[in-house]
Amino acid sequence: MARIVVYDSGVGGLTIYQQLRQRLEPNSAQHSLVFVSDNAAYPYGTKADAELISRVSSTAQAIVDSYQPDMLVVACNTASTLALQTLRDQLECEVVGVVPAIKPAAQISQTKMIGLLATPATIERDYTRQLINDFAQQCQLINVGSSDLVEMAEAKLAGHSIDHSRLSDILQPFIDSANLDVLVLACTHFPLLAEEIGDVFYSNKRSVSLVDSGDAIARRVLSLAGSKANYFDKTNELDAIASFTDVGSIDSGLVRYLKSQGFVNVQQLIVE
Ligand code: DGL
Repeated sequence: MARIVVYDSGVGGLTIYQQLRQRLEPNSAQHSLVFVSDNAAYPYGTKADAELISRVSSTAQAIVDSYQPDMLVVACNTASTLALQTLRDQLECEVVGVVPAIKPAAQISQTKMIGLLATPATIERDYTRQLINDFAQQCQLINVGSSDLVEMAEAKLAGHSIDHSRLSDILQPFIDSANLDVLVLACTHFPLLAEEIGDVFYSNKRSVSLVDSGDAIARRVLSLAGSKANYFDKTNELDAIASFTDVGSIDSGLVRYLKSQGFVNVQQLIVE
C-alpha cells in the first residue's frame, strides 16, 4: 500500500486531493491518502520567504514523522515555488510539488495573452519568473496576486457566502484585458471558485479557459506510484484521514464538508 500525503496551508489542498482520489478510485483499496492542512500557519501567501521555508520544513518533517508517507504532495504553489528543493534535500520520501500551469496555458492560448492569478508571494517568485521565461516568452502576462481570494475560497468551503462584487474587483485587470483568453489558477484554493470566476467573465460577455495543475499532478503521482510494483499488490481499505495543525480552530462548516467528502477521521498534527 502506498501512503500519499497531500499537504497545503488550508483547504486548497483538497482540490489536489480530490483529483487524486478520483484517479485512484479504481485502485483506491491499494492506497492510503492523508490530507494535511497547516491551518495554524495559514495563510502562506503573505509570509516572508525565510519564515515560510522554516515553517514548511518543520511541517513536512512532522508529516513524515507522523505518517511515514511514500510520497508527499506539496499541494500549494506558494510553498512549492519556494521550498521544493529544501524538502527534497531534507526528506527521504518522494516529494511532488504543485507549480503554476504556465506551460499548458501558453500552449492553449490563441491570443497569447494570459492571466496569472496566484497569491502575492507566488507572483513574485523567481521560480514563477523562470516558468514564464521558459514556456511563455511569446505571451503577454497579466498578473494578479490576491490573498483575499484565498480567504474567499476558505469561506465558500465552510459554507459561507461569497462577496461577488469583491470577486469582480479582484478580477477586473483580466476583464480589462480584452484579448485575454486563458487564466491560470496558480493557487490550489482557486479551483474552488472556478464557477464564480467563470460567472464574472460571463457577465462581462467574455469567455476564458481556466487552467490549473490538478489533473497533471494527479497523473504524475499515479505514474510515480505505478512505477513501484508493490504499490498495487495489497488490498488494504482506503482510510481517508484529514489532519490539521490546529484542529481546535476548524470552522464547523468545514467539518461538515470534510465528512461529506468521506473523511471519517480528523486528527491533530503537532509541529515542533
Ligand atoms: N493554496 C496555496 C497555494 O496554492 C496558498 C494559500 C495561502 O496563502 O496559504 O498557493
